[in-house]
Amino acid sequence: MIGTESKQQEIIKAYQFRHACKAFDTNKKISDEDFHFILETGRLSPSSFGFEPWKFVVIQNEALREKLKPVSGGAKGQLPTASHFVVILARREEGLRPDSVHVNKMWKDIHHMPEEVVQDWYDFYKSFVETELEDNDRLIFEWSIRQTYIALGNMMTAAAQIGIDSCPIEGFDKKQVTAILQNEGIINGDDFGVACMVAFGYRQKDPKRPQTRQHLDEIVEWR
Ligand SMILES: Cc1cc2nc3c(=O)[nH]c(=O)nc-3n(C[C@H](O)[C@H](O)[C@H](O)COP(=O)(O)O)c2cc1C
Repeated sequence: MIGTESKQQEIIKAYQFRHACKAFDTNKKISDEDFHFILETGRLSPSSFGFEPWKFVVIQNEALREKLKPVSGGAKGQLPTASHFVVILARREEGLRPDSVHVNKMWKDIHHMPEEVVQDWYDFYKSFVETELEDNDRLIFEWSIRQTYIALGNMMTAAAQIGIDSCPIEGFDKKQVTAILQNEGIINGDDFGVACMVAFGYRQKDPKRPQTRQHLDEIVEWR
């Protein structure tokens, strides 16, 4: 069995290995098994109320990547070179209303909650949406987007642990990317909106600079 210390070192090494990779080696493809593993860590990520408000669209079609490039400045090096390129969609407000089809499906079909438990959660969730999210479409969607970033982080860390590079991407024009995905029939109706992107692959070269971070003392306060 691996000792605690070496397990910790192994995980920290993966965090140190991960960097925002700008360009990938186009000769190296991530295996189906490894990519499935990365997606699985996204699927198993936690979400508020267990609603899993995400969809991972894996864009392998070169022509579609080309279409996204002019409106995705932050992904110009990654779009043409990534082994796998993912646009993470977040469920929009309509599907997160307390009486929506999705919320009901999650409670009943996925989490198998008994009817009386669903009723309790319904009341609690309704009050959460009304008070914390001000029953506001934009706030509900932003809350949904926030949760996709947990899956994003988990997928990148999991990738790093098996020696796969990645880059999180927010540098794109949301309206234009949404329009492209609607045109392609990837986003239909108002179910989902674009949250963020993430590219995976194997680095072309090592990063120019070593990882730079603030000291732990600057970001942690003990009381
Ligand atoms: C939410 C988010 C969005 C980001 N968007 C981009 C992007 O559009 N393009 C890019 O090359 N890097 C992007 N980055 C990478 C950051 O610039 C990078 O993580 C940061 O500078 C720290 O560097 P490191 O990840 O290499 O340690 C993004 C990072 C995060 C977390």
